[in-house]
Amino acid sequence: MHRTIYLDNAATTPSLPSVAAAVSKMLLDNYGNPASLHNKGLAAEREVRKTRRLLAAMLGVTEKEIYFTSGGTEANNLAILGSARRRRGHHLVTTAIEHAAVLSPFRHLEQTGWQVTILPVDQQGYVSARQVAEAVRDDTVLVSVMAVNNEIGTVQPLREITALVKARNRECLVHTDAIQALGKIELDPAGWGIDLLSVSAHKIHGPKGVGALWVRTGIQMEPVLYGGGQEQGLRSGTENVPGIVGFGAALEHLSAQQTQLIAHMVQLREAFISLIKKNLPGAVINSANTAVAPHICSIALPGLRGEVLVHALARAGVYVSSGAACSSYHQHRTSHVLQAMGLPPEIIEGTLRFGLSYLNTMSDIEQAVDILVRVAQQL
Ligand SMILES: Cc1ncc(COP(=O)(O)O)c(C=O)c1O
Repeated sequence: MHRTIYLDNAATTPSLPSVAAAVSKMLLDNYGNPASLHNKGLAAEREVRKTRRLLAAMLGVTEKEIYFTSGGTEANNLAILGSARRRRGHHLVTTAIEHAAVLSPFRHLEQTGWQVTILPVDQQGYVSARQVAEAVRDDTVLVSVMAVNNEIGTVQPLREITALVKARNRECLVHTDAIQALGKIELDPAGWGIDLLSVSAHKIHGPKGVGALWVRTGIQMEPVLYGGGQEQGLRSGTENVPGIVGFGAALEHLSAQQTQLIAHMVQLREAFISLIKKNLPGAVINSANTAVAPHICSIALPGLRGEVLVHALARAGVYVSSGAACSSYHQHRTSHVLQAMGLPPEIIEGTLRFGLSYLNTMSDIEQAVDILVRVAQQL
């Protein structure tokens, strides 16, 4: 059997052993409902609070502004539907390269009477802050721009976008999908003037099915789920305590050494790009060089099909993605991100996304490129 070289970490990451241990402990021993009054309930509540504190510290915000959800998708839906429905106004702004978990709630609002402006990006996948601000009107209630794109890794100029949006319309809220950004780039949502930010645990070696929304204090929100009133009434439903505690274990690992872990990923990514350039001169690097996340690199092998390469690589033990794995339920759908960048069809078809993690080694990168070269020659 081949050694597994997992380079699909933008789709999801393996849980850390400390995460699995924390989840298991909460399932087997500390299984109380945080709403219960007895000591088992209090113990569970204490553990949930620990994660809340860790996430708040990592984002530089306060604990009571954190609301746990069932993942990034729910956090985005809550941010968009929950803030828009609470406001009077007619207009919303987002970008063409957002994840489906942002674009779909926007489309849903559009069908219910809202006007939606979807902004284009340039050839490298960047949103122009000036264009965002120009799209904002007096009746715009929300702008949503992702922090890091999940297919090409572009880091959007959020601080500048927020400043220009607020200068144009002080009442307009700014949301960012930071699901690919947490643990990968510096985030200072409060300092940047952002109002709402979504994160997800399974992109940082935490469990699947848990995420959080940060809501700046004072912002009026409407729930999407109604029920027992957990999470200060904004997100009803018994908390996914094992998931939240696992999220905490992943955050703990990250917060102790974030700078070194990012530096390691930057090194891996740079080595990967230079090996690709040296050994596969026909390859096209879709991702930009600057203002790019340390863990995502999109490349194209024109003339070959990404999907075929994904399967051939997996047979050789290397796991990557052809586009966004999170939306591959829609099989054979062309990447809306690469299309928005205006890339030609042969580039889009031949694209592979490599998603790195701090758990990868330099030897993973070297071997993956060797295998890619071999596989590409055989096809
Ligand atoms: C940018 C982005 N937004 C949203 C999501 C959805 O998050 P989740 O899988 O936690 O629902 C993902 C990944 O799947 C993503 O990469």
